[in-house]
Amino acid sequence: MIRNNELNFLSFNESSSPVELSASIRFLVQTIRFLKPGKMAYKLDFYERFLNYLRVIGLASLSQNQSVLDDLNSEDESTNHSFARFLIHLGLVEKQDSQWKVKAEYSSLAKDQLLVLLKKSEKPASTKVSEAERQLVDDFLHIRDLVKKYRQPETPFKHIRKHRKTWERLVQSNQLDYEIRLSETLFHLWKFQAGNKIRSPFDEAYYTESGRSAFHNFTRHLFQKYISQLAANLQHPKVFDLGCGYGNYVELVRETFPGSQLTGVEINPEVYHATREKFSTDANVEIINTDFFELNTLKRYNFVLMNYVLFYFSQEDQKAVLKKAASLLKKGGSILLCQYFSGIESLKEQLAEKQKELTLFKKIVMYYSDKILYANTLWNDSVDTFASAVKWDHFLQNLRESGLYIESATNADPYYYSLFVEIKVKP
Ligand SMILES: C[S@@+](CC[C@H](N)C(=O)[O-])C[C@H]1O[C@@H](n2cnc3c(N)ncnc32)[C@H](O)[C@@H]1O
Repeated sequence: MIRNNELNFLSFNESSSPVELSASIRFLVQTIRFLKPGKMAYKLDFYERFLNYLRVIGLASLSQNQSVLDDLNSEDESTNHSFARFLIHLGLVEKQDSQWKVKAEYSSLAKDQLLVLLKKSEKPASTKVSEAERQLVDDFLHIRDLVKKYRQPETPFKHIRKHRKTWERLVQSNQLDYEIRLSETLFHLWKFQAGNKIRSPFDEAYYTESGRSAFHNFTRHLFQKYISQLAANLQHPKVFDLGCGYGNYVELVRETFPGSQLTGVEINPEVYHATREKFSTDANVEIINTDFFELNTLKRYNFVLMNYVLFYFSQEDQKAVLKKAASLLKKGGSILLCQYFSGIESLKEQLAEKQKELTLFKKIVMYYSDKILYANTLWNDSVDTFASAVKWDHFLQNLRESGLYIESATNADPYYYSLFVEIKVKP
């Protein structure tokens, strides 16, 4: 955990130019992927393919939204749009003679009928694609095979030829659980239409389950460590969980601080009933089924948790949520946010450095997770389940305008995909 006197969080802004790996690191990655010395090499291989998977989806969406390139060329402002940022940071477009264009190496795929076949997970026979495009196609089909295997374990791989057994084991032992779910989700960016929302192909509880998957795979231990440090002087911290989902964090806080009073608020009735049932015999835990904005309470808390929930609110409402959450705090209390933000590569690098974690391997996995985040941000902006992605610059502005500041932060997973951020009221 790093405090704001060691790193001035408020001084970082979203990056505008893409971050790339150096040629020597890239060579190292390719060697590891080729030799596959262990499980982590497969993960690295997965991430590299995942980026190409996202690139195919990006080219498909671009082919249906050519106007986005015109917008990009007409005003600088539109580079802030999350689709534009996704195209730029995944290296699908580049400036040629001061005009944004699809990168030459991807130009045939961007308009080709190949995309129609790829959408159905069929390998096109065409030979007119570039070497880079051929790689995109192979990697896209590789990830589609893994997603299929995740949902239908009996179905044999259609495209994966090499190391089939290992890939099968990785899927079946849930070692790529979160990543494959994310691949499944982000596939639907194919339907992106500028100016319109995509109808979510999943029910609301799907996203609550993704939160549960993130919790079990990544955030659990790091959260326990973080809140234990923050609550070191409190015997029975009172904790409020906004959008508590299936109550994973409530359960963990109860386990960490036995006897603490806990309140969870959940808007989704089915999720609420399942969570209420889970804690039905515990008098210290109350789970309330309401919209956070409708909640009226005189209780005050040491911590208000806000884990993967801000994107359910519009940009304007995100500020109101932060303000309301702050009003529920006891004096000296903190909002604890768990959230991902795209475009804060340098903040994360410095955070990792200060936490003495910035090994070469960490740099590499952070590179992949940072790139994937541009697609996740776009998804939060595009699907109708969510109101608006949480954007770092806007988030900082909300904090400033609400009299709040970041007291400390730490990573919420080994890849620094999400961060835990401690927010306090300015004295
Ligand atoms: C992505 S899930 C994360 C759940 C949990 N915080 C976790 O990290 O595992 C977000 C949850 O917030 C709930 N939610 C969304 N808007 C809400 C609102 N206005 N009031 C209360 N809960 C809300 C959703 O129904 C969903 O279960």
